[in-house]
Amino acid sequence: MVDKTPARLFMMTGDAGTGKTTDARMIAQILGLPYYVFTCGPGTDELELLATTVPNMGGTAHLEMELPSLEDIEMDPASALATVNGIYEEGISREKAFREILKAVYEKGYEKSKNEKDFLLKESEIVKACREPSVLEIQEPAMIEKPGTLTRLNSLFDDGAVTDLVNGEQIRRNPDTIVIMTTNLDYVGCQNFNQSVLSRMNLIQPKEALTEEEMVKRAMKRTGFKNKELLSFMAATVCKIHEYLIEQDITDGVCGYRELENWVLSYMVSNDLRRSAWTALLSKASMDREEQGTMERVFLLPHCDVD
Ligand SMILES: Nc1ncnc2c1ncn2[C@@H]1O[C@H](COP(=O)(O)OP(=O)(O)OP(=O)(O)O)[C@@H](O)[C@H]1O
Ligand SMILES: [Mg+2]
Repeated sequence: MVDKTPARLFMMTGDAGTGKTTDARMIAQILGLPYYVFTCGPGTDELELLATTVPNMGGTAHLEMELPSLEDIEMDPASALATVNGIYEEGISREKAFREILKAVYEKGYEKSKNEKDFLLKESEIVKACREPSVLEIQEPAMIEKPGTLTRLNSLFDDGAVTDLVNGEQIRRNPDTIVIMTTNLDYVGCQNFNQSVLSRMNLIQPKEALTEEEMVKRAMKRTGFKNKELLSFMAATVCKIHEYLIEQDITDGVCGYRELENWVLSYMVSNDLRRSAWTALLSKASMDREEQGTMERVFLLPHCDVD
């Protein structure tokens, strides 16, 4: 399937929960390729894109020595000690033999582990994805605050280009690795992040927000909830709150398909529309208690008789 076309870099934009990650996973599944995901955060830096260092907790040194049992030490302390350090001390007491055995084991263990590194280099999912044909989703690249961080990846995005891993190894993106950047921003919002990265994307695919009807269908299928009338009301409420958040410029919360699904699941357990709305919907739509109360009053309470 290797060809010379470099169309392997895509960006998918759209609201939270519209299905970008699911699409990326489906593309991997359809193509029979492994799927890797890297999630960016405000603090993501150049190094983290390629590798992280982790403390060497496990250690690889294993003691390859035969240890005597407690019974061996009881019965014949001199022979028990000799199996560990090779020295047979005629008439040695059990206590002394035991101490000598502990000392020998400690020294051997120390010798083995002193050559081990304190930290290990763990390559990122991005590097792993570059090593074999795969689908790599880079989530929310626009979240990265440090300007220019993503440009480190340009060298991997360019055809045939290489980038250095921290240990000096040169990494080249497999020509069949497909990179999909996914972001909640629309195309205009994306302009905020580095133009040179943006210009390398072969295609930018906006994912349309789900309609109420699509939300109802999806939620019904995924939750098994059968009450279509109530579900339609819940989907309509989610959409209205979503619009309200945009209108009021409320940016400290979300209200989309995922919240609908959680609301339905919560309702199925509690049978209480209002309470489940608080836990799954209103508390996520905004962090402001007053704002949450307003949304409940305007969008929920007048219709609670559907319950
Ligand atoms: N085509 C689909 N059919 C049924 N369910 C879907 C479909 N696409 C997505 N979903 C479900 O919708 C939910 C949200 O999807 P997903 O996580 O892919 O959204 P997203 O756009 O990546 O969200 P975010 O921007 O928050 O990362 C998931 O529970 C997912 O399983
Ligand atoms: Mg996602």
